[in-house]
Amino acid sequence: MADLENGTKTEFKIRDLESRNQLAFEGAGIDRVEKQKSGGRLTARERLDVLLDPGSFVEVDRFVTHNCQNFGMTDKHIPGDGVITGYGRINGKLVYVFSQDFTVYGGSMSRTQANKICKILDLAVKNGAPVIGINDSGGARIQEGVESLGGYADIFLRNVMASGVIPQISAIMGPCAGGAVYSPSLTDFIFMVKNSSYMFVTGPEVIKTVTHEDVTKDDLGGALTHNTKSGVAHFAADDDRHCLLLIRELLNFLPSNNIDDAPLLPTKDRPDRIDTSLNTFIPDNPKKPYDVLTLITAVVDEGYFLEVQKHYAKNVIVGFARFNGRPVGIVANQPSVLAGCLNISASIKAARFVRFCDAFNIPLVTFEDVPGFLPGTDQEWNGIITHGAKLLYAYAEATVPKITVVTRKAYGGAYCVMSSKHLRGDVNLAYPTAEIAVMGAEGAVNIIFRSEIKKSKQPEAERQRLIKEYEAQFNNPYVAAELGYIDEVIEPAYTRKRIIDSLEMLKNKCDTNPTKKHGNIPL
Ligand code: HXC
Repeated sequence: MADLENGTKTEFKIRDLESRNQLAFEGAGIDRVEKQKSGGRLTARERLDVLLDPGSFVEVDRFVTHNCQNFGMTDKHIPGDGVITGYGRINGKLVYVFSQDFTVYGGSMSRTQANKICKILDLAVKNGAPVIGINDSGGARIQEGVESLGGYADIFLRNVMASGVIPQISAIMGPCAGGAVYSPSLTDFIFMVKNSSYMFVTGPEVIKTVTHEDVTKDDLGGALTHNTKSGVAHFAADDDRHCLLLIRELLNFLPSNNIDDAPLLPTKDRPDRIDTSLNTFIPDNPKKPYDVLTLITAVVDEGYFLEVQKHYAKNVIVGFARFNGRPVGIVANQPSVLAGCLNISASIKAARFVRFCDAFNIPLVTFEDVPGFLPGTDQEWNGIITHGAKLLYAYAEATVPKITVVTRKAYGGAYCVMSSKHLRGDVNLAYPTAEIAVMGAEGAVNIIFRSEIKKSKQPEAERQRLIKEYEAQFNNPYVAAELGYIDEVIEPAYTRKRIIDSLEMLKNKCDTNPTKKHGNIPL
């Protein structure tokens, strides 16, 4: 405490405040801070420094402490109680933040810590600004028992209420185990750091006892596991700093809330830029793969595409980009992985992304080249019917501007699903290479002309003739264009221009769904 002998009472009070602040900044002491930093990790405050615009952070509840009287906790008080909360700016935009401090009781969730986080979530919703939570915690504060659990549940409720109202982002930068995983999983995007973060409901020791499996923490729930296998996480960063900078990057694409428009960013990339290389980009042979990322980066502003979940379900690509400064969500079948088929994981990945964009007024641009849903017992028995329907549902209920470009295959049910005209697609374009049909020519001929081929004196020659005939008749965009299911068949070189024209034309689009409590998406 400050010394009353030197100076006035007011000066004393200011020095007292300074020393209290100092105590709060020191956290649990130098040894613990050094342990935290030994693995290359940043402290809770350093993380906020990287995340937020310099000097913009305003802390709330710095002096709050816990009220626990159990297990010798009465005299152990560290200001802030293991979480730093407040608000600041990212590229000038208001955001609310909390950052758990592992050096204080392992960042564990006390009743007090939960109250602090709830206060931030309430402020974020009331003021319509995104919230970013940095998680680094040993879970429920064991000394507090059910009070801590109640605190978690209070946070979960707020995450659910805030869902679709403000963007919610979670960074996992240390342990996140047990029921604690459910707050991040209720948020819109989860960032993890390679080799230093993990998430699981039950840890390796419990798993060993129950299922006799041997697994390390990292294999069970590390950044790569959740980015490649489970699809729980959306981004895998190399280290703390990279993670926080990635969050800043994502924030640039997002509106502050569900009644705000996504932020425009002026660009030098001309809206009427044509790219003649695209006219020969789609291979002549429909079985030949190509990398749709090349097409995406060729048409978006300055070739800049922020891919989301890039390590998971790579047969569909989702992410953010801009057209003439206007942010869009891009969904694209990836012909170079599983021929761009829709399977369970791809359907779920794309459906969640479509719903996020729709909730936050971000137009959707879909690049379609899909031979259909992936066949197989694995897919059927694990519910491709239900999961595929998620994507259909998401596109159908979306009221944001929806632009579709069919580059090649649009076969079968997948044609309907991928933002077709019938699901309220606003602008549906196709390349001359598009094949819009129930299925590929070979499969179709084998089914509908089976007996003719059998009866023919030269069955193989007859089969080939029929395939060619089917291709000429159906494997093109013109049947759909004649029906108005495709608005325009375009030269690929003009893709960027046409998408920008469409976004401009749709910028005041207003569409609604019937009034209801909520729909029943096939979960
Ligand atoms: C209270 C905790 C704590 C917790 C860690 N600490 N976790 N204090 N409650 N949950 C304290 C430790 O006692 C220690 O204090 C300090 O934080 C640092 O912890 P260490 O164990 O030294 O760190 P480390 O070796 O890095 O190990 C990290 C850890 C381990 C793997 C996270 O601490 C751990 O297993 N913690 C318990 C995890 C757990 O079972 N939590 C409950 C999960 S159930 P001192 O003073 O000794 O340095 C749950 C339910 C949520 O969370 C349900 C929500 C619905």
